[in-house]
Amino acid sequence: MDDQYGVETNPSDRATVDPPEAFVEQANVTEADAAAFSEAWPDCWERAAEMIDWERPYDRVFDREGENGRWFPGGRVNAAINCVDRHLDERKTQAAIKWIGKRGERRTYTYLDLYREVNEFAAGLRSLGIGEGDVVTLYMPAIPELPIAMLACARIGAPHNVVFAGFSAAALAERMERADSAFLVTCDGYYRRGNAIHQKNKADNACLSVSHEVTDTVVVERLDDESVRLGDGDHAYDDLIAGHRGAEVDPVSRDANDPLFLIYTSGTTGEPTEVRHTTGGYLAHAAWTSHAVLDLEPADTYWCSADIGWITGHTYLVYGPLSLGTTTLLYEGTPDHPEKDRVWELIERNAVDVFYTAPTAIRAFMKWGTEHPESHDLSSLRLLGSVGEPLNPSAWSWYYDHVGNGECPVVDTWWQTETGSILLSTLPGVDAMKPGSAGPPLPGIEVTVVGPDGEPTTAEEGGRLAVTRPWPGMPLDLETDDGDEWRYVTEDVARIDDDGYVTVLGRLDDTVTVGNHRLGTMELESAIADVEGVAEAAIVDVCNGSADNAIYAFVSTDDRHESEQRLRDRITGSVERAIGPFAVPERFVFTPELPKTRSGKLMRRLLKDIADDGEFGDTSALRNPEIVGEIESALERE
Ligand code: WT7
Repeated sequence: MDDQYGVETNPSDRATVDPPEAFVEQANVTEADAAAFSEAWPDCWERAAEMIDWERPYDRVFDREGENGRWFPGGRVNAAINCVDRHLDERKTQAAIKWIGKRGERRTYTYLDLYREVNEFAAGLRSLGIGEGDVVTLYMPAIPELPIAMLACARIGAPHNVVFAGFSAAALAERMERADSAFLVTCDGYYRRGNAIHQKNKADNACLSVSHEVTDTVVVERLDDESVRLGDGDHAYDDLIAGHRGAEVDPVSRDANDPLFLIYTSGTTGEPTEVRHTTGGYLAHAAWTSHAVLDLEPADTYWCSADIGWITGHTYLVYGPLSLGTTTLLYEGTPDHPEKDRVWELIERNAVDVFYTAPTAIRAFMKWGTEHPESHDLSSLRLLGSVGEPLNPSAWSWYYDHVGNGECPVVDTWWQTETGSILLSTLPGVDAMKPGSAGPPLPGIEVTVVGPDGEPTTAEEGGRLAVTRPWPGMPLDLETDDGDEWRYVTEDVARIDDDGYVTVLGRLDDTVTVGNHRLGTMELESAIADVEGVAEAAIVDVCNGSADNAIYAFVSTDDRHESEQRLRDRITGSVERAIGPFAVPERFVFTPELPKTRSGKLMRRLLKDIADDGEFGDTSALRNPEIVGEIESALERE
């Protein structure tokens, strides 16, 4: 199974690593705390609920009624109170958000600043007629107005719908349409590799194609570009804030099971799947895992390098750290600009205590060389985290040695958009780490692996990872098994070792990870197949024997006379329009046909094998075995 998924096996010299002593002594969660958590489910989750302030106490921890049950029924809560107001007594002057903008800007919002601006913007949103339950779409890069808008929405009980800024107008429109969202907050534009991206133009185009009316758009001015004109229904963010200077808005008390936000993720269908997270359970789970796994506390300066447009940014850049009163860093730039030591420079300059990033980033840092982290004082770091993909042992070791100097635990955290918060990870002050393996289910979480028939399989066999009990951060309308036992079966293939540690091997469904964003192969393939001259496309995630993946597009063409370069340009344009520039595959391989079985099924697996190491199995099941040779030579030409 390891081979099949290209997962590096664990080098025996580092089978396990104990948490560094100095960390253990100060950890938020000790062995005794962890043991206490293992009291009966679901009551153990009261500990998570205790992390947040409730306006009305919940009646029960968990109510089994309904398909998936409900967490903390009867409880009433407001997320903005938890992330802002409740810190004012002790932390008015402490930084809540430290922003480092792309053009060298630096802005710090204390908790008092954050309180003021969240209230002013909440008052501004109200003045546009936005009330409880109205979905507000937020379409912005990593600027402070994004978390401020999220919290302002939370304050007035309007679920937010953050759409990654790199998504195209078409992708934005689809998400606004599905969310039935009539309000948009965006910016005039921003800079990407020195070029101005006209975000407002994309937003306007999206609004034109949404079937319902988008009544109001708030625009953060960022470009200093006079040519961006505000039309009817457009409001400048600064004017809106200025018009409500000093306003205070009573927070709307929300039911624990009212949605805090919607977020779309890629599923197998080729269409974005809506996930709606709750206010009570989600927030409690986010706060608890930020405390227990990321070991956050108010005194920390914490940096999560994810974009707020994805779930990681929601939970671990905004809601988790701010609910705990931590200082959270928001960085707009890229890790290699102006130099490849940018990340380490920022950690040094801001004395970052906890750093949470992704395996693709760690592997890029590795490639760039140890001299970069070595040229900075990284001694402020206490804990390192990873999320998004399996963290292969060599990247794990590099991170541990060269960034953490052997003194910081590494938490390899497994979770998903659908889980809302981390479900699998070592507890950094308690559990031994096993490079290559995410770790055991956290206290209160139970998982198993199931075979194709849905029956539990043996540990060595592995199977689909399934969560066997509800967890507080689970979304509304989670799709679960209808069987006798409650079960949320994921599309991840995993193995559970004797010690209960879970190694995630890969995904079963047709999704690929592009720069740490989950995308459906269907979404990409249909954007490519839309191009004139293209017959069909197959998207394949290729590892080339390393853990570093690349997305290949195998494209069969109608017209052999069209130049490949022109076709490639048109495909690039189509993917940019349908999804966004970040989704453009790294390599294109043109071929007269794609390999098909006799029944006409595309053999994606074969394409992956050919591209990975040129070795592949029996092709006798193919209707067109001769195509394999052509594809091999096309790959060589590339
Ligand atoms: C999928 C979820 C949740 C944050 C970011 C991505 C993969 C995530 C790990 C990990 C191995 C991981 C899984 C999962 N994944 N973390 N530590 N080890 N795989 O969110 O876009 O919802 O993707 O990312 O395949 O199902 P997402």
